Amino acid sequence: MDMYRTSADPGRPSRRRFTAGAGAATAGAAAALAASAAPAAAALPLRPDCPPESTADWATCLAVARALLVVDEDDRPLVPGYAKVLDGGLPRARTGAAKKVLVIGAGPAGLVSAWLLKRAGHHVTLVEANGNRVGGRIKTFRTGGHEHAPQAFADARLYAEAGAMRIPGSHPLVMGLIGRLGVEKRRFHLVDVDADGKPVNNAWLHVNGIRMRRSAYATSPRRVNRSFGVPRKYWDTPSSTILREALDPVRDEFSTRGADGKRVDKPLPERVRGWARVVQRFGDWSMYRFLTEEARLDERTVDLLGTLENLTSRLPLSFIHSFISASLISPDTEFWELVGGTAMLPDALLKEVSDVLRLDRRATHIEYWAPDRQGGHDTSHVSADGPHVWIDTVSEGRGGKVVREEFTADLAIVTVPFSGLRQVQVSPLMSYKKRRAVAELHYDSATKVLLEFGRRWWEFTEAEWKRELDAVRPGLYEEYRAGKAPADGSLLGAHPSVPPGHISAGQRVHYAANRWAARDQPEAAHIVGGGSVSDNSNRFMINPSHAIGDSKGGVVLASYSWADDASRWDSLDDDARYPHALRGLQQVYGQRVEVFYTGAGRTQSWLRDPYAYGEASVLLPGQHTELLSAIRAPEGPLHFAGDHTSVKPSWIEGALESGVRAALEAHGA
Ligand code: FAD
Ligand code: ARG
Repeated sequence: MDMYRTSADPGRPSRRRFTAGAGAATAGAAAALAASAAPAAAALPLRPDCPPESTADWATCLAVARALLVVDEDDRPLVPGYAKVLDGGLPRARTGAAKKVLVIGAGPAGLVSAWLLKRAGHHVTLVEANGNRVGGRIKTFRTGGHEHAPQAFADARLYAEAGAMRIPGSHPLVMGLIGRLGVEKRRFHLVDVDADGKPVNNAWLHVNGIRMRRSAYATSPRRVNRSFGVPRKYWDTPSSTILREALDPVRDEFSTRGADGKRVDKPLPERVRGWARVVQRFGDWSMYRFLTEEARLDERTVDLLGTLENLTSRLPLSFIHSFISASLISPDTEFWELVGGTAMLPDALLKEVSDVLRLDRRATHIEYWAPDRQGGHDTSHVSADGPHVWIDTVSEGRGGKVVREEFTADLAIVTVPFSGLRQVQVSPLMSYKKRRAVAELHYDSATKVLLEFGRRWWEFTEAEWKRELDAVRPGLYEEYRAGKAPADGSLLGAHPSVPPGHISAGQRVHYAANRWAARDQPEAAHIVGGGSVSDNSNRFMINPSHAIGDSKGGVVLASYSWADDASRWDSLDDDARYPHALRGLQQVYGQRVEVFYTGAGRTQSWLRDPYAYGEASVLLPGQHTELLSAIRAPEGPLHFAGDHTSVKPSWIEGALESGVRAALEAHGA
């Protein structure tokens, strides 16, 4: 019997607890296995009354831990070597050793591996499905660029991110690459700052009908916490502290707390074993299961953490993933952004590979030479002494004729996300484990809704609000304060800074139909950067960290959401989506922001993107141990890269790690 399951009914199925039943059934068996086969693991369960209950063996847990920490089988770090390769290149191929290499997909993983192999003297072709753009899930809404994009916003100087926007300073490969390529960077303010750049944490929390500054919540959380109905012992503890305390015992496995309270990683290889214990103990768990069964939090408190700490939509997904994310996306991490947009990184890489790039070529069929697997499959394009890889591609025929083009090579690096590879025919069949990984790897959704404003009103003081609103018409400032300004949309874009012609009739209709009923007006936000959180459908609202050029306007990420929160936006077309996102912002910042809305919004639902097929491979409980080794293993002459082959999906760093690894494999193959 599971002694530790006191707070939750062990038999009750829960959609948030994918493997509870399996865990209960196998706990004893796993403990026995751990005791016999893996004494190191059995000796150190996180809770003395709780046996390690993963169905994975210790060797698999160690392998996941090594992939996560990017160390080799002897626990030596691989990243310094990767950084050296990224900076100085691969060792040059010997004369006669140059190979013909196909790289499929020109996201950061493909761009980097193509660049490295080309520099080393190989004959590289980089094929990309997009007709006009490289970069994949690095995508900046901008005017011009290498993709010759039409004007993105009413103010042509402005740009904003559809995908990657913030780069952790703790990600060495991407930070090194930015330096190597001479791309200019500046701080991304996860926490809002004052005019001198000092963090103030004054953005809003807006939940359960309460609006409060984040800084006020940090010192006096009681009102918000009680609105969730959390038990008395948590009334006065901010959500981030409750979460940190819940996760700290897990962190103790691989790090220690120094005298200053900061965490210090344990030395290798002890750190590897610590992480392996975490994987063994919680690899099969969802975050929801961890919070309820291990941290023993009640559902009200889980709801508080979920809402404020951005966990709710991913509670049913892998504990390991959310645990890593929660540690990284935190005020303790220093984040950077690229001046000109994240697309400056693919821009710079494109310069290095433009001569080998074929845009508008989507791989639809791959054949590869694997003599032991050929039976029953048409692999007539490959042979023992002919090309070992053949691919068929199709152009999308935008306005023109659809073109098919075939490519051959000695080997290929496939960087297509597995969600998309599922639609590509591969002959002969790849190994069972690989096919299973391609079919089952879970992809999350993410949606961004961006709105442009003629002035950066979130930076205003109250006096600036008065000046700007009264410039629209005298007395308007007071009308908004008293909740008396018309709410029919007639003031949309009414400020003189807003150029005409961008607010469509459809947007006005949706605005008027769905406008927000309450009319209270909070004080001026007066913040630079940072972001607010709400339980409305926008969920997370992020302000730009910097002005762009001399523009007085700015683009707000009015909604950034994941999983179910993201799918909610998909049924709304653009004319409906932008007014809805504006309404969500108004609920937090007040109705008056509408006068600055230019009508120019941009939005990206990554699940609906025809070449990304989702945000990223955010795994289900158990998939790290079940699938990871198969994800990255080569299949004959096919090598695999992409952030999904790393343990950093949804981070450029993971894509780069994989790109260098695959280039090394291909170079040495
Ligand atoms: P991709 O970038 O997806 O590239 C794959 C390429 O393959 C694409 O160009 C695609 O068009 C092409 N392709 C697909 N199918 C085919 C085919 N059949 N034939 C030919 N080509 C094909 N990372 C960060 O570091 N910081 C962030 O703040 C951040 N935020 C993010 C926010 C969102 C909403 C999203 C979606 C991602 C974010 N990321 C962030 C993650 C980052 O963008 C990815 O990790 C990175 O782009 C992955 O690179 P990749 O090369 O593996 O895949
Ligand atoms: N890297 C992305 C960001 O900075 C996403 C992180 C995790 N995403 C997820 N769905 N779990 O926002």
